[in-house]
Amino acid sequence: MDDNKDLIKKAIESRDKAYVPYSGFHVGAALITEDGSIYTGCNIEIASYSPTICAERTAIFKAISEGHKSIKKIAVIGDVENTFPCGVCRQVIREFGKDATIIVANSEDEYKEFTLEELLPNSFGPEDLAKAKKGDA
Ligand code: THU
Repeated sequence: MDDNKDLIKKAIESRDKAYVPYSGFHVGAALITEDGSIYTGCNIEIASYSPTICAERTAIFKAISEGHKSIKKIAVIGDVENTFPCGVCRQVIREFGKDATIIVANSEDEYKEFTLEELLPNSFGPEDLAKAKKGDA
């Protein structure tokens, strides 16, 4: 099966697991790491609201906590057409996938692909802090 369709299918399956008693808005994500491992995530809402986590970050933190460091592609699908990653998730993708592709999906057959650079231009990232540590900031 084609890479993109497979990721979107997994994101849709994950969306079904969303725990969203407050917003009722289901989101699913699926990512592939540079070494070909796949992780999925859904959004999880908490009664005190602020601990709520988006689908993208659930998937990313699962991958990182299993030892992966580099995200190649991440697919996202919500309850409405063209559900884009929120700003916080874009920054988290930036940390582990400066060159990542983001698939904003409406179905397995209808999706758009974006680069992280398109969704988060002129971003701040790990390299900027590394520069400061070397004293050349
Ligand atoms: N949500 C995501 O899971 N990903 C996004 O990028 C956009 C927002 C979730 C968070 C919350 O559970 C619900 O959608 C409504 O904001």
